[in-house]
Amino acid sequence: MPLVSMRQLLDEAAKGAYGVGAFNVNNMEQIQAIMEAARETKSPAIVQASRGARSYSQDRFLYHLMLAATELYPEIPTVLHLDHGNSVETCKSAIAMGFTSVMMDGSLMPDGKTPSTFEYNVKATREVVETAHSKGITVEGEIGCLGGIEDGHGAGLDGLSHLTDPEQAVEFVRETGVDALAIAIGTSHGAYKFTSKPTGETLKMDRLLEIHRRLPNTHLVMHGSSSVPKDLQDIINQYGGKLKPTWGVPIEEIQLGIKNGVRKINVDTDNRLAITGAIRKVFWEKPEEFDPRSYLKPARDAMKKVVAQRMTQFGQAGHAGDYAPISLEAMAKRYQQHLTA
Ligand code: G3H
Ligand code: 13P
Ligand code: ZN
Repeated sequence: MPLVSMRQLLDEAAKGAYGVGAFNVNNMEQIQAIMEAARETKSPAIVQASRGARSYSQDRFLYHLMLAATELYPEIPTVLHLDHGNSVETCKSAIAMGFTSVMMDGSLMPDGKTPSTFEYNVKATREVVETAHSKGITVEGEIGCLGGIEDGHGAGLDGLSHLTDPEQAVEFVRETGVDALAIAIGTSHGAYKFTSKPTGETLKMDRLLEIHRRLPNTHLVMHGSSSVPKDLQDIINQYGGKLKPTWGVPIEEIQLGIKNGVRKINVDTDNRLAITGAIRKVFWEKPEEFDPRSYLKPARDAMKKVVAQRMTQFGQAGHAGDYAPISLEAMAKRYQQHLTA
């Protein structure tokens, strides 16, 4: 089947009361890992690429690899999503290239660092919604800023300074018509999210519950949702790495989110850890090796294992065959007939 809209996957996830992991990719092996995990667990798949990933893969390599994925895994409903689009232009260029879903992250200015105003965010996001929906493409917006690198405070610091305001979230959804809403509840991108297991003081699940209470029909998105498992940290450190002790988002908190409106869960760091650990292990144990396949294959297998585990934990496993794809043209018609978030 062709690439499908993310709106369809998330609507189905809401009906079935499960979440869908969105996994970042930069290269062929990462795409293969996700598609193999999706086949093994019979899961729908959201593959997402950041601006950095688009630049690394020269855009066209990524797009054609995704076409290969749809050819080789025709039974898997698959979305190609732009992660953290920094401007209207970036989103439009992704749409032109064939992405079936885009994130307009107007919570930050186009520099990707400076927190923006509510008015700027609404204006930019609405413009993307108008363009995207006319083509049946899904839009994710963000209100509030994550901690760490995303708001320019430096990795791992202060995920609590720009939490999503529930009242603003309601206004934002009403003003923009986004299909999915990313919220800030204390998480950060990367490995260094929390210095100890998060509590209600550092990971604000109560805020998420309040937003869901006010927006019961909006698909919520949790960014910075890697769990940063100790065993993956340990493998890296055992084979010469130097990660400092750190904590991610516990799976049970994500599962609580899924019971309360979270439909998309962004995971990149856990896969980076799995890949790096596997490569380090080969380099450490077999220093004579120099065929890239000798370490890329275990790296791909390690990522597949993490993705399959997350697909099962988020509840999307078993749902790949539940529905027939809706074409982007049909989605565009549905938006014309005032499909709202
Ligand atoms: O948003 C963060 C994702 O992990 C993507 O990271 O911008 O380094 O590709 P990146
Ligand atoms: P992690 O760094 O926790 O994997 O988050 C990824 C993310 O939110 C991508 O948008
Ligand atoms: Zn993110």
